[in-house]
Amino acid sequence: MPWFQLRDEIDIDVRFLRVDDEYRLDLSNLDELLKGAKLLSVTGMSNVLGTINPLRALADAAHHNGALVAVDAAQSIAHGPFDVQALDVDFIAFSAHKMLGPTGIGIFWTREEILQAMPPFLGGGGMIADVRLDGYTPASGPTRFEAGTPPIAEAAGLNASVLYLQALGMDNIAKHEAELTADALARLDAEFGDVVRVIGPSSTIDRGGVISFVVQGVHPHDVAQVLDQFGVCVRPGHHCAKPLMKRFDLAATVRASFGPYSLAEDTNVLLEALAHSVKVFA
Ligand SMILES: Cc1ncc(COP(=O)(O)O)c(C=O)c1O
Repeated sequence: MPWFQLRDEIDIDVRFLRVDDEYRLDLSNLDELLKGAKLLSVTGMSNVLGTINPLRALADAAHHNGALVAVDAAQSIAHGPFDVQALDVDFIAFSAHKMLGPTGIGIFWTREEILQAMPPFLGGGGMIADVRLDGYTPASGPTRFEAGTPPIAEAAGLNASVLYLQALGMDNIAKHEAELTADALARLDAEFGDVVRVIGPSSTIDRGGVISFVVQGVHPHDVAQVLDQFGVCVRPGHHCAKPLMKRFDLAATVRASFGPYSLAEDTNVLLEALAHSVKVFA
């Protein structure tokens, strides 16, 4: 959406990488797409497919072609380590509510030199170094983007979620969720076969704990309603990813996802509820 909005404003050219049949980014024409590009914008992990994108390779290709890399890290940030230096990305953004924090606040990070070169886009208290009758000088660093009284309670809440996740350990979270995901994918395949089709990589390598699926002959909202009766909360719908739905000829999927608090018993209930919804509707 931001790139379409920018296109309306300054007439930029927006191009797209395609997704291949294995639910991964098709990088075969990456260099061609990057010719003349200023920015490569990509999600760290797909909120629909669970695919973890090869950020380092994408950053190398982008930099080689003179483009910067912006990562939507909303789905990655709470599920494992995220090292901006090792990945060599230029911008990351994520919302606090995707990492067990409050709504209405998020993080935008970029390199120091880019930060200093970017003009502020909002005016207000706290974002200036100096104001005169002939103009103003913006504050340096992140402060220039934090105009007005900040969401203080939300910042304290976000801090608490950072401390909580750090105490659990990001490596531990990644390992825990990878085990749950591998187990759930294997059991979905073994217990439901073709009745349930997983829309996402079957391999657990470079794949996070988001499992989208469709149940043959049953609408995702009907599946979700039955799962809800078992106390299983899933997200049915197009997941704000309509072009991706179209790519796979789907209107919607059901999405189950794991977090640090999920247990193997949760998968048992999910599968039990799923079997019930197949019995009721299929
Ligand atoms: C990858 C990704 N980016 C962005 C968002 C939206 O974040 P926000 O609700 O802060 O706009 C979501 C989820 O809603 C998401 O999964």
